[in-house]
Amino acid sequence: MPTLSPFTSLHQLRQAVAGSAALPDLSGVHYAYSHAAYEAASDQRASLQEWLPRELSPLLGAGPWLGTEPLRVIGVGVGDGSVDAPLAAALATDGRQVEYTGIEPHAASAAGFEARLGALDADSLTVTTVAGAFDDYEAPAPVDLVHFVHSLYYMTDLATTLDHALAMLRPGGLLVSATAPREPLCVLTELLSPCIGHRLWCAEDVTTELAARRLEVRSETMLAELDLGGMRTAPHGADEPVLDFLVGARTATMTAEVREQLMMYLAEVALPGNPEVVPHPIDIAIARVS
Ligand SMILES: C[S@@+](CC[C@H](N)C(=O)[O-])C[C@H]1O[C@@H](n2cnc3c(N)ncnc32)[C@H](O)[C@@H]1O
Repeated sequence: MPTLSPFTSLHQLRQAVAGSAALPDLSGVHYAYSHAAYEAASDQRASLQEWLPRELSPLLGAGPWLGTEPLRVIGVGVGDGSVDAPLAAALATDGRQVEYTGIEPHAASAAGFEARLGALDADSLTVTTVAGAFDDYEAPAPVDLVHFVHSLYYMTDLATTLDHALAMLRPGGLLVSATAPREPLCVLTELLSPCIGHRLWCAEDVTTELAARRLEVRSETMLAELDLGGMRTAPHGADEPVLDFLVGARTATMTAEVREQLMMYLAEVALPGNPEVVPHPIDIAIARVS
């Protein structure tokens, strides 16, 4: 395979995409199924499952209200609760009362969240599942933490969504965004996913919005790796859930030309000396309201 720069291979991919029909949407069950396969090919989820309880517990551990009020958490776009369960378990230790609400519009995923958090052995944890979209949700009481783990991409209006979340927080409360930066993988979703009706919001957009609100923000980039070895050996046209989630579309009808250019791009952005593994970073921002 000839060596190009990622910039050149992306340009060639764009040209190939422009000359071919749009791919079918990833909908419902296949979104959740391909997401699970994608996360299984990456070490990012395990890092998040460890990072969130470790970093957020101390930040939520002090405040004049504690002792009289439960700790209230809202997870937005929680999927099947894989990332939320360890956080909820860590927060609800030592008898601390925690009210944990998961908002998830995909009904089967919402049921998975409810089952997973319901199975935790924590008497002081109360779990509420909202099978709906975040923008329609009103919190019944001020909350300590609203988090978006890989879900801000899909919100219709990023600024409105962030303002909605900030308005739910009590003074001193935290808004957490765990969102991928625009390069190198998000650019594929932007390019190949059928139109979601708005720009795909990435970490850079979140940073801009939070800065505009003059919030105290702490951010860091968590490095991770996505192993595409399995996807590359899957036959073209067969079920390729990792590739489907990577580009945010069903890829079975992808033309040979687009697929070839896509593989070229992935090879160019792969880790040096490891052509089957691509960087899979995530930017985490923690904003505290005053
Ligand atoms: C990539 S998944 C992340 C799931 C989970 N946070 C995780 O990291 O495993 C994004 C989730 O956001 C949900 N979502 C999409 N639009 C949403 C909205 N308007 N409000 C709340 N959740 C939404 C999707 O249904 C999906 O489960």
